[in-house]
Amino acid sequence: MPPLLSLDHVFKSFGDPADPLHALKDISFQMRRGEFLCVVGPSGSGKSTLLRLIAGLLQPTSGVIALDGDPISGPSPRVGIVFQTSNLMPWRTVLDNIALPLELRGESKARRHQIAREYIALVALDGFEGHYPHQLSGGMQQRAAIARTLVQNPELLLLDEPFGALDALTREYLDQELLRIWRLKEMTVIMVTHAINEAVWLADRVLALSQRPGVLKADIPITLPRPRTEAMLTHPDYLTLVKTVRNHIDRPVIQKPTP
Ligand SMILES: Nc1ncnc2c1ncn2[C@@H]1O[C@H](COP(=O)(O)OP(=O)(O)O)[C@@H](O)[C@H]1O
Ligand SMILES: [Mg+2]
Repeated sequence: MPPLLSLDHVFKSFGDPADPLHALKDISFQMRRGEFLCVVGPSGSGKSTLLRLIAGLLQPTSGVIALDGDPISGPSPRVGIVFQTSNLMPWRTVLDNIALPLELRGESKARRHQIAREYIALVALDGFEGHYPHQLSGGMQQRAAIARTLVQNPELLLLDEPFGALDALTREYLDQELLRIWRLKEMTVIMVTHAINEAVWLADRVLALSQRPGVLKADIPITLPRPRTEAMLTHPDYLTLVKTVRNHIDRPVIQKPTP
C-alpha cells in the first residue's frame, strides 16, 4: 500500500534569503495509514514548523510533501491540526465552537449540531454543550479543540503539544483518551511533544529532531504491545525505549553573549 504521507528531502528556511534562518534540513520519512507517530526534539528544532508544513500552512523552501501521492499545496480538510492552546471563541458555547468548521462549510444548523454532538460524546464532554470556554478546565478546552478539528473527519490529525500546558496527571489521562479515540476512529496521528515518556507510551514510532537546523536524527520503532496500559510505565522494555529516545536528543545549549 502506498504511504498516506511522504516527505521527500524537505528543507525550510525563514527570513532574508541572503541570510536565512534554516529551521529544517533534508527531512524525509513516510507514514502509513493508521500509524501513530510522535515527534520529539529540543525547543527550536523545527517541530511546529514541520507540522505547519504538513498542514499546508507553510510551504517548504525545497522538497515535496505529499498526501496519498499528491503534493500538499495548502490547508485542506483532509489534514486537521490542534495547537497547544485551544483558541476557542469565548463568546460561543462548546457546541457552537465545535460546530464552527461545519458552519463555515455551509451545513444547516440542525445537521451541524447533530454532527457536533457526536464528537462532543466522543471526547466525553456531554453535558457541557451549553457551557462557554471560560467555564471549562484546561483539559476540557483541549478536548473541545480536538473535537472541533475532528468534526471535519480529517484523515491525518496533527497535534502540536496539545497537552503541554496541562499538569502531568491530566496529561496522562488525556493521552489515554487520545489512544481510545485513535483506535475508535482508525485515525492517522502525528503528535509533537517534548515529553519523551509520553511519546514512547503513545507512539508506533518516535522521530527525533536535532537542534536547529532540525535534521532527522532517529526514527525509532516502539515495539510495545497495544493496548498500552498504565502498568507498562514501569516495564523494563518501556524504560529501555525511553532511554534510547533520550540518547538521541541533544541537550539544550546556552548561548553565551558575544563580548
Ligand atoms: N514564521 C517564522 N519566521 C521566522 N522564524 C521562524 C518562524 N517560525 C519558526 N521560526 C524559527 O524556526 C525555528 C524552529 O521553530 P519551531 O518550529 O517553532 O520549533 P519548535 O516547535 O521545535 O520549538 C526557531 O528558531 C524559530 O524561531
Ligand atoms: Mg513548537
